[in-house]
Amino acid sequence: MKRLLVVYHSQTGTTERLALAVATGARSAEIDGVETTLLRAVDAGPGDLLRTDAVVLASPENFGYLSGGMKDFLDRTYYPCAGRVDGLPYAAVIAAGNDGTGALAALRRIARGYPLREVREPVVWRGPITDVALRHCSELGTAIAAGLELGMF
Ligand SMILES: Cc1cc2nc3c(=O)[nH]c(=O)nc-3n(C[C@H](O)[C@H](O)[C@H](O)COP(=O)(O)O)c2cc1C
Repeated sequence: MKRLLVVYHSQTGTTERLALAVATGARSAEIDGVETTLLRAVDAGPGDLLRTDAVVLASPENFGYLSGGMKDFLDRTYYPCAGRVDGLPYAAVIAAGNDGTGALAALRRIARGYPLREVREPVVWRGPITDVALRHCSELGTAIAAGLELGMF
C-alpha cells in the first residue's frame, strides 16, 4: 500500500475545499493501492512527511507569498526531514484572489531546497470555487494516486 499525504492551510475555507477535492480524487474507486491522509498544516509534522510516498501541498496566496501556516509547516519539518525525503514526489495547489504566482514561486523554491520533486502541473485557482476548480483538484489527486499505484514516481 502506497501513501499519499495532502497538507493544506486555509483561512476562509477555499483551500480546504480544494484539498478535500484532491483527497477525494485520490480515493476514487479506480484507486485501490493508495491510502490518502488529509491534514491541516498546523496538525502535520515531520513524521507525516517521513511516512508518505508523495505529498500535495495546498496553500492560499497571502501577500504575494505562501500562507504563514504552510510556511510554518515547511519550516518545522525541514531539519527533521533533511536528507530523508530527497526527491519525494509533490504537487502544488494554490488558491488566490487574482494572482497566485508569488505563492507558487515560493513553494517551488522551498521544494527545490528540501529537495522535493514536482511530478504534476500545479492547480492555481483564482477567485471563488467552482465545479471546474474542484474537478481540476480531483483530477490531480487521482493522477498522483494512480502514479503512485503504478510505480511511476
Ligand atoms: C491576508 C490576505 C492576503 C492575500 N493576499 C493575496 C495575494 O497576494 N494575491 C492573491 O491573488 N490573493 C490574495 N488573497 C486572497 C486569497 O488568496 C484568496 O481569497 C484565497 O482563496 C483564500 O484561501 P483560503 O480561503 O483557503 O484562505 C489574500 C487574502 C488574505 C486574507
